[in-house]
Amino acid sequence: MAMETGLIFHPYMRPGRTARQTFEWGVQNSIACDKAGFTSMMISEHASQIWENIPNPELIMAAAALQTTQIRFAPMAHILPHQHPTKLAIMVGWLSQILEGRYFLGIGAGAYPQASYMHGIRDAEPQMLNEMVRESFMIMEKIWKREPFFHEGKFWNAGFPEEAPAETEEDEQHMLADFSPWNGAFPEIAVTGFSSNSPSMKLAGERNFKPVSIFSGLDALKRHWEIYSEANIKAGFTPDRQRHAVSQTVFCADTDAEAKRLVMDGPIGYCFNRYLIPIWQRFGMMDGFAKDGGVDPADVDLEFLVNNVFVVGSPDTVVDKLNTLFEACGGWGTLQVESHDYYDDPSPWWNSLELIAKEVAPRVKLPGAREAVSKAAVA
Ligand SMILES: Cc1cc2nc3c(=O)[nH]c(=O)nc-3n(C[C@H](O)[C@H](O)[C@H](O)COP(=O)(O)O)c2cc1C
Repeated sequence: MAMETGLIFHPYMRPGRTARQTFEWGVQNSIACDKAGFTSMMISEHASQIWENIPNPELIMAAAALQTTQIRFAPMAHILPHQHPTKLAIMVGWLSQILEGRYFLGIGAGAYPQASYMHGIRDAEPQMLNEMVRESFMIMEKIWKREPFFHEGKFWNAGFPEEAPAETEEDEQHMLADFSPWNGAFPEIAVTGFSSNSPSMKLAGERNFKPVSIFSGLDALKRHWEIYSEANIKAGFTPDRQRHAVSQTVFCADTDAEAKRLVMDGPIGYCFNRYLIPIWQRFGMMDGFAKDGGVDPADVDLEFLVNNVFVVGSPDTVVDKLNTLFEACGGWGTLQVESHDYYDDPSPWWNSLELIAKEVAPRVKLPGAREAVSKAAVA
C-alpha cells in the first residue's frame, strides 16, 4: 500500500489573524484536501497559544461536513483533562453521526501548562494528566455503550441512566436520545506522542489505538514505534506500521529552488523564526535534528531545517527524501502535512497540496511493501 496523505491543522496562523479568517482558512483547507485526495484532516485544540488559535476543532469539522465527501476528520487532539467526559462523549458521538462515520478521535493530555492552568490544573505534571486521560476515556466509553452506570471517580463523576419503560405504545417522553458514535460503533481512537519515552505511545499500543507522532528526529521516531509495538504485542495485537501517522513540514513546488524560496521567504519561514524554532528549542526537539545532522543544537536555524529536516522540493526530490527517511526509520502509513498560513496568497499552498497527494504519495511505500513488490516482479 502506498503512503496516505493527511493534513494537520494547528494551524500556525500569524498573530493578528481574526477568528473568522482562521475559521475560513480551516474550511477552505478541508475542501481543498478533500478534492486533492487527502484521506484525513486533523485539527488541533488549543486554549492558550496565539499561533495555534483553534479552541474548538469540532466547529471547523461541522462547517466542512456538508462541503466535503471523502476526507475523514479528527480532532488532534481533544485534550481530555480540560473537559467533562460526558459532554465530550456526546459531542463526539453526534459529530460522528453528522459526518456519517468520516470521523476518528484524537485524544491527548495537553502540551501547554497555561492551558491546563486555565482549566483549573495548577501543577500540570505528566503523570496526573495521563491518569486524567485514562479516567476520562473510560467514562466516555461507558457513555457510548449506553448501559446504566454511575461512576464516582478521582477526577469526575458521571453516569448513564436507566431508560424508563414506556407506558403506552405512543409514550416517548422517557426515551433517551442516542448520541453514540455513527452506527453505534466506537470511533477509531488516535493518540499523539511527542516525548522520546512517550507514555502516550504506550497507551496507544496497549489499547490498539492509532499512533500519531510529530517528527522530532530519527531516534525519537524509532523509539515511538518500539514503545508502541512492544505494548501492542504484549496486549495481544499485531502492530501495523500502516496505521502510524507522522506529522512533518512538507512543501512541494515545481522546482527545488522555487519550493525552497517559497518556504524560506514565505509563511513557513516566518512562523519558524517567530514561533516554532524558539518553542522547539524549549521542548528539546532540536537535539534530535542536530544529532541526525551532526551539528550543535545551537546551530540549528531555519536554513538547516529546510535543507535537512523538512521535506521540501520538487515532487521527485520530495519522493527521494521520504524514501530515504522511510529506509532509515521503517516508514509510516500516513504523512500528516503541517498546515501553514498561506491565507493571503493561497495558490502556492494549494499547488503544494495537489502535488503531494497526486505526484508524491503514490510513489512512497513502506520499505516492506517495496520489497514485496520487487520480489513479486522477479518471481
Ligand atoms: C501530532 C500531535 C498533535 C498534538 N496536538 C495537540 C493539541 O491539539 N493540543 C495540545 O494541547 N497538545 C497537542 N499535542 C500534545 C499532546 O497533547 C501531548 O502533550 C503529547 O502528545 C504527549 O506526548 P508524550 O506522551 O509522548 O509525552 C499534540 C501532539 C502531537 C504529537
